[in-house]
Amino acid sequence: MDIDENKINSINKCISPVYEDGIEDILSKYNITATTDLAQSVQDSEISFICVGTPPNPDGSQDMGYIKSAAKDLSNALHSTVTRNYVPLDIGKNMPYGHTVVVKSTVVPGTTENIVIPALEEHGKKAGKDFGVCMNPEFLKEGTAVADFMNPDRIVIGEYNKESGDVLAELYKDFKCPILRTDLKTAEMIKYASNAFLATKISFMNEIGNICKALGIDVYDVARGMGYDGRIGNKFLNAGIGFGGSCFPKDVNALVAKSKDIGYEPEILEHVLKLNDEQPLRIVSLLKKHIPTLKGSTVGVLGLSFKPDTDDIRESRAIPIVNALLKEGASIKAYDPKAMDNFRKLFPQVGYVAPEDVLSSDAVLILTEWKEFDELDYKGKTVIDGRRIIRAKKEADVYEGICW
Ligand code: UGA
Repeated sequence: MDIDENKINSINKCISPVYEDGIEDILSKYNITATTDLAQSVQDSEISFICVGTPPNPDGSQDMGYIKSAAKDLSNALHSTVTRNYVPLDIGKNMPYGHTVVVKSTVVPGTTENIVIPALEEHGKKAGKDFGVCMNPEFLKEGTAVADFMNPDRIVIGEYNKESGDVLAELYKDFKCPILRTDLKTAEMIKYASNAFLATKISFMNEIGNICKALGIDVYDVARGMGYDGRIGNKFLNAGIGFGGSCFPKDVNALVAKSKDIGYEPEILEHVLKLNDEQPLRIVSLLKKHIPTLKGSTVGVLGLSFKPDTDDIRESRAIPIVNALLKEGASIKAYDPKAMDNFRKLFPQVGYVAPEDVLSSDAVLILTEWKEFDELDYKGKTVIDGRRIIRAKKEADVYEGICW
C-alpha cells in the first residue's frame, strides 16, 4: 500500500519505480498487488510492515512525520476492519493476532515504543492484546537488495511481547540464518550500530589511506594484509572518496543527534562524519596538483551515483566534488550509466555526454566504480581516481589515486 498512485500503477504493471537488480522479475513472478486502499490491505493480510522514509531534519535528527502518519492510518484501518482470528495459510496456523504491525523503517531507539505504539492505539485497540507489534530492521544494500533479502546474514526480530515475535518467527522460518529475538529498542539500536560501524570502517580506511598516500604506500595492499585477520574481515575496507547514499550519512547523523539529545557527545561518530565531508574534496586538491588553475579548464567526471548499480545520487560524493569544481570555474563533462537524469535535476549546467567524450577533457575524475569504467581506454589521459579502477591505474599517462 502506498499513497502515491504513480508508484501503485507502476508496480501493478510489474515496473519497479526504482532501479534495482532482479526486482521486476519478482514483481512478475509473484502475484504482488499494490493499492492505495489501506483498510482493504489490512483486511486482506495478517502482517503490515511500515516501510516509510525517515528523512533527516536540518539538525540531523529524524523527521518522524511519515512514520507517525503511517501508524495513525494503520490505527484507523485496524479499528475499521474486522481482523481475522485465524488465517487459512501456513503461517496462520498459530497466529496469535488477527493483525501484526511491524516497523521496518530505520528509527532511533525508543521510536516504536514511544511514537508508533501510541499512534497505533489511538482508536482504542491495544498493542499485545488486539494486535501484535514488532520492529524488524532491514540490512539490504541498494543494487543487491533482492539477493541480500533472499540470503540474509541474520534476521533481527524486536518484539513487543513473545506472541508478536512468534508471528515474525513463523513468517521467516524458512530462512537459513541466525534469527535473533530482542526487545523493540534493542532491534532499533542493532540497525544503527551496524550502519554506524560500517561507516566507521570506511572512514577509518580513508584515514589510513590518507596517511598511506603521504607515505607512498598503497592502502589496498594494506587492506589485503588486514582483511585476513578474522577479527577485522576483508569487506568494507575500500578506501576512496567516502560513503554516500540514503543510509550511512543519515543514520550516523541521526545517532549523533539522538546521543546529544540524551546528553552524550559521540566523538567517534562525529569524526566519522567530518572525515567523510572532507574526503571528497581531497580529489579536487589532487587535481589542482596537475591543473593549478581550474578556471577555463574542462574536467571530465566518470560516475555520479553514490555507488555502482544504482541510479541513486542521494549524498553521492560526486555532489560536493562537482560543486567545488564549478565554484573554481571549471567546465564539467560527465557520464554515468544510470544516474545522469537524476544528476541533471541538481546540476543542469553540467554537460552529460558519452564516456569517450568525458575522456577528451583536460583531466578525468573517477567517482563511482562502475564495472564498465574498466573497459575504457585511458591511454594518454590524466586521471585522478577516487574509486580504484585498475585499468585507469595501469594505462593512464598521469594517474593519481586518492589514497594510493
Ligand atoms: C547500507 C548498508 O550496507 C546496508 O546494510 C543497509 O541496510 C543500508 O545501508 C540501509 O541502511 O538501508 P547502501 O547504502 O545501499 O547500504 O550501500 P553500501 O553498499 O553500504 O555503500 C554505502 C556507501 O559506502 C557507498 O557510497 C559506497 O561507495 C561506500 N563504500 C562502501 C566505501 O566507500 N567503501 C567500502 O568499502 C564500502
